[in-house]
Amino acid sequence: MSAALELRDIGVRFGAFDAVDGVSLTVNAGEVVGLIGPNGAGKTVTFNVVTGLQPATRGRVLLGGTDVTRAPAHARTAMGLARTFQVVQLFAGMTVLENLMVAAHRHTHAGVLVDALRLPGRRRALATAEERGRAVLSFLELPHLADVEVTTLPVGQARLVELARALCLTPSVLLLDEPASGLDPAETADFVALLAHVRATLGCAMLLVEHDMGVVMPLCDHVVVMDFGTVLASGPPLEVREDAKVRAAYLGEEVA
Ligand SMILES: Nc1ncnc2c1ncn2[C@@H]1O[C@H](COP(=O)(O)OP(=O)(O)OP(=O)(O)O)[C@@H](O)[C@H]1O
Ligand SMILES: [Mg+2]
Repeated sequence: MSAALELRDIGVRFGAFDAVDGVSLTVNAGEVVGLIGPNGAGKTVTFNVVTGLQPATRGRVLLGGTDVTRAPAHARTAMGLARTFQVVQLFAGMTVLENLMVAAHRHTHAGVLVDALRLPGRRRALATAEERGRAVLSFLELPHLADVEVTTLPVGQARLVELARALCLTPSVLLLDEPASGLDPAETADFVALLAHVRATLGCAMLLVEHDMGVVMPLCDHVVVMDFGTVLASGPPLEVREDAKVRAAYLGEEVA
């Protein structure tokens, strides 16, 4: 079976600077892979190559075995790729439910366009999007937030809503860029439990960029460590954590 996501020898060059230089990694269906490394290692640039926000200078991106290296971001979304952002990006001036409906509606619409004969009326499509949004809120035990305007949410809840919005796309691959950043220890522990629940229930594969080893260690099946744009180490979390190169480059203080 094809991997859910595969990067083959990705390179991204800005002028004379190689921000990413030969990164390969595989996320199998249902697997959670952590992408860690010091500040400036190239994690977010790699992430943006996966979503289609950043063109690669070299290498290939495959989603479910299909080469999407040249596919635009929206085409990748339609193929089951969803993301959250390092800095929360919700649609201001809209409620939580409206934020979710935008995602769910776009997704339904893109799918429907493929088969124009089954194009439902606009009202019906909106009802479907609302149903989907409410179902995801219930699944995450957040139905009380439906009518709250998103800019009034504390960061912990805003991060949950971003996750909810990504889940409205029924992703097969979920990309999370530092989902626990800005959360206090209790919120972080809850978020880890929630991601474990998402994984166990929905079975979507995840690529998780995260500095907090308290998030990475319990969730990840496999960890890839980047440094200076390259892969420094790759393997099971416990093995990677004990790797001398990794400890020297990055983990020393956090793990001690
Ligand atoms: N558009 C750009 N033009 C030039 N350099 C860039 C650009 N985007 C990123 N970089 C550089 O590429 C390197 C990798 O950046 P990236 O954002 O991927 O790091 P990161 O691993 O996500 O770090 P952090 O943990 O701080 O989020 C950094 O040196 C950054 O300054
Ligand atoms: Mg980053």
